[in-house]
Amino acid sequence: MTPKPKITKKPKKSINVGIIGLGAYLPSKVMTNLDLEKLVDTSDEWIRTRTGISERRIACKEEMTSDLAANAARMAIKNAKLEPADIDLIILATITPDMLFPATSCFVQAKLGAVNAACFDINAACSGFIHELTIAQQFIESGMYKNILVIGAELLSRFVDWKDRSTCVLFGDGAGAAVIAPVKRGGLLSSYIGADGTKSRLLMFPAGGSVTPASHETVTQGLHFLKMEGNEVFKNAVRVMTNASAQALSRAGLTTEDIDCVIPHQANIRIIEAVIQRVGIPAEKVFVNVEKYGNMSAASAIVALFEAVKEGRVKKGDKVLMVAFGSGFVWGSCVIEW
Ligand code: ACO
Repeated sequence: MTPKPKITKKPKKSINVGIIGLGAYLPSKVMTNLDLEKLVDTSDEWIRTRTGISERRIACKEEMTSDLAANAARMAIKNAKLEPADIDLIILATITPDMLFPATSCFVQAKLGAVNAACFDINAACSGFIHELTIAQQFIESGMYKNILVIGAELLSRFVDWKDRSTCVLFGDGAGAAVIAPVKRGGLLSSYIGADGTKSRLLMFPAGGSVTPASHETVTQGLHFLKMEGNEVFKNAVRVMTNASAQALSRAGLTTEDIDCVIPHQANIRIIEAVIQRVGIPAEKVFVNVEKYGNMSAASAIVALFEAVKEGRVKKGDKVLMVAFGSGFVWGSCVIEW
């Protein structure tokens, strides 16, 4: 049981900001651990016991990150009972964009016909959704925008080395989207984001940027694929997500007893178990779907929230704690009253 954090209630704000529509899109192709056994020297048993993952989705050749994003976004806009033209701003979180530039959110805007929306992308890796919520809240509270579409979309299968068993078994493709708008009650009760850039080299795509531009050598050496020091990332994820959970609770003026559902980033079941044990939250309050999709980075949190609501694990009036950690390192946490 972690010590109860000091209660520092946020000053009362005039506008409540919440989620008025959610959507998700998972490519139909399923890749199981048994399929992976045919590609690399691994086993279903190793993957399940070390990560909790049984299968993941893989986009088809014709699909791009912006397609996954647009599909999830259409559902979120429909569930919010809006039209694409009602969207004022699109924020897309991804580490696997269609191209280095232009922003993938611009491709999504065109696919949706969201003609009135401004667009930008953010790179906050697995914490993308919590960063987006935090940004959207500022725009809505300031009165600048009303309906903000936030999307997490990843096509990691095109960026992992399918010969590297230490990474390729972990990731999957997918997208989630949410429409953020003023709400009458509840909504985002607190949020907290942070970063530690001194650990950036532990998880990255080494080449393709200004440090190591693409060349014949970078391709031969596989430097455009995701590289990760798994053990170090694991230890940092547990420590940081534990602290971040306490921060979000403290900023909302709540304790673990007030929380109905916890939605942690879905990277590895062992990270989730270690975090909830340290935070002092019973396992039955925690939503997990990592077994079906693996780690979808920025898409994981929105897809998990979407499924938790759909399955009735998050109901009207419930308080939901979300917490995430990813490459950068960056992290975020928030409490939402549904
Ligand atoms: N199948 C079989 N054996 C494997 C595999 C595999 N797929 N991968 C690694 N191994 C082997 C290793 O080679 C090593 O063998 P050795 O002891 O002979 O050297 C052994 O298994 C143990 O390897 P470890 O790396 O110590 O395994 P660990 O228990 O740490 O699990 C893992 C590795 C799953 C990657 C874990 O460290 C992890 O989950 N890290 C965090 C990942 C994460 O949370 N990322 C979040 C951010 S992602 C983002 O921001 C995009």
